Amino acid sequence: MKKRTIRLHCRELVEQINRLIAQMTLAEKLGQLTMTAADYAVTGPLITPVSEDAIRSGAIGNLLNLYGAGPTHRIQKIAVEESRLRIPLLLGFDALHGQRTVFPIPLAEAGLFDPAAWEATARLAAEECAGDGLNMTFAPMLDVSRDPRWGRIAESPGEDPFVGSAFARAKTRGFQSADLAGTNAVSACAKHYVAYGAINAGREYASTDMSEAMLREVYLPPFRAAVEAGVAAIMPAFTDLNGIPMTAHVHLLQNVLREELGFEGVLVTDYHAIAELLNHGVAGDLAEAAALALKAGVDIDMMSDAYRLGLPQALQRNLVAMEEIDAAVRRVLVLKERLGLFADPYRRGRSDVSVTAQSRALARDVGARSLVLLKNDANILPLAAPKLAVIGPLADAGGEMGGPWGGAGRSEDCVGVLQGLTDAGLIVRHAPGVAIDTDDVSGIASALELCADADVILLCLGEAALMSGEAASRAYLGLPGAQQELADAVFEKAGGKPVVVVLFSGRPLAVPSLVSRAHAVLAAWFPGCEAGHAIADVLTGKVSPSGRTAVSWPRAVGQIPIFFGERPGGRPFNPKDHFTSHYSDVENTPLFPFGHGLTYGDFELSNFRVEPDGDGLTVKVDVANHGALAAEETVFLFLNQKKPGVTRPLLELKGFGKIALPPSEQGTVTLTLPRPIGRAELFVGPKAAFSSLLSLSI
Ligand code: BGC
Repeated sequence: MKKRTIRLHCRELVEQINRLIAQMTLAEKLGQLTMTAADYAVTGPLITPVSEDAIRSGAIGNLLNLYGAGPTHRIQKIAVEESRLRIPLLLGFDALHGQRTVFPIPLAEAGLFDPAAWEATARLAAEECAGDGLNMTFAPMLDVSRDPRWGRIAESPGEDPFVGSAFARAKTRGFQSADLAGTNAVSACAKHYVAYGAINAGREYASTDMSEAMLREVYLPPFRAAVEAGVAAIMPAFTDLNGIPMTAHVHLLQNVLREELGFEGVLVTDYHAIAELLNHGVAGDLAEAAALALKAGVDIDMMSDAYRLGLPQALQRNLVAMEEIDAAVRRVLVLKERLGLFADPYRRGRSDVSVTAQSRALARDVGARSLVLLKNDANILPLAAPKLAVIGPLADAGGEMGGPWGGAGRSEDCVGVLQGLTDAGLIVRHAPGVAIDTDDVSGIASALELCADADVILLCLGEAALMSGEAASRAYLGLPGAQQELADAVFEKAGGKPVVVVLFSGRPLAVPSLVSRAHAVLAAWFPGCEAGHAIADVLTGKVSPSGRTAVSWPRAVGQIPIFFGERPGGRPFNPKDHFTSHYSDVENTPLFPFGHGLTYGDFELSNFRVEPDGDGLTVKVDVANHGALAAEETVFLFLNQKKPGVTRPLLELKGFGKIALPPSEQGTVTLTLPRPIGRAELFVGPKAAFSSLLSLSI
């Protein structure tokens, strides 16, 4: 009965929408297929300043980068009260890791390995987006990323497709909620479909090439998961894959995404991507570019004005048919209906959004849990209420803490480390020593003077927020500017005094010597608006660190791409045999493997067992905390499948679970997986390093 009602509703809806389409002029149709930017945040050429007249005339049907209850209400009012057909606007913005309340960057948040938390931050971001009058966000970013040279690794859930898929489901649920028409729901837009993370040499906007197997096993699964979770929109990547630009990729957009995966939603291009088909060299003019994109099933042209300018000519030249335009318009209108915009275009944007005590509490909790304790020699951390010398350019840098793509976050809302430590009641003296990225070393001497009087030296080092994110590829992954010089001088001066490094970055950095000289290293990534409090919580032991790195850290740039899901090859490394796979100047292993992250507990895993469970398997492992402090352990389940004729990765992630345990307590982590076909080996452990895994053959 329920199904029938829905189908009836769908039929009525389609008829209603078809009636609307029948009334539309070509210009009005193309307006619905156009999204243009207001002038808040611009990441490419801005061709059409938002003109109220264009909205009034129906020439522009969607906007990006305009937010705030007042401005969105005013612009929506023009569309629905002054345009001929009164069609409301889609209003989209990038809330990748928060809107006003900025959460950790996605790469850091992935390290929580906690889908409920991933969903909660997306939910809060959606509420704030909706409060700001938005009805669409260009998130989640789901590009599996194995190359830390690529700045956009910061926006991604890391190197693994299983994690990416779980992240996709949680984020889609969080943004869209159970009811897309809800006043607090926004359309998610999963991006960037597909394989953008594999760009050549990690250089932004370069090409990608890969096998069908790699595409299907690694890069596609998070998008499949997003579609299964009901994602309402998807953004094709800027890149070309095996020579075909994604914006015009008929096979991957039509055959795979729409037909095979069953995606029925809206395809929104990336910024200016249709016009860039000319640079790709696949289109001779804007009309050809527009035709290629439309034929591939792309519905909304973001910022190229290629549909408005090119499609009329493309129609004349018979490059496209009106039915193809109508199909795209229909998908856009259906989304507007699903968002509840026809029923009440003002349902969102009813209140001004601000960071609240409640949103800060979530940011602080998630921020603290995203920090990854990379090293903690002699249990230097947690700090025992010492006098601290806080040195480094990122100590008093609230404005950097949001990282790249900070949504509508404001730097004045962000708490830096210095403030966090002071609020925690620690005695702190501070000197930056150097700036983040200059050669000026004149401040080092005065910074060193602070060391004499301190019990512990805290070095706050790393990247500036905008050194990762879009258009922020790096070829060297060391500390920028003169920071290594500052660190070396501090290590010399400190003598035996403990030096704790808090390392900020939007990517794993290749800093083996920094790590080996420090007593403790906390990877902070960019923790968001509550950074200082979150970091203080972990340094003081108020919170036991539990974050795990969702991406491998290289020892050297030459190891990239480095990831745990490698296939074994015919000559796996054997230290006794020169003619096996190795480098002559660096170890094969990463500096820190996927899943690495210490806690203040001392965990032991034992009694690994597997039981059949219907079509699947139930895996159990006992976890004991032998440490003196309560802590949370993360357990990963990996599979190595043996297949005749096909070589499989040494480890494939199949599950993860967490368990919080007080000192001297024991518990059990239970995970399930589909029963593998044929011979396989299962592994459980705290990270993707064979030496720390328990194994079972099945
Ligand atoms: C980025 C997208 C983003 C869009 C709109 C582009 O430059 O690649 O990820 O959603 O701008 O802000």
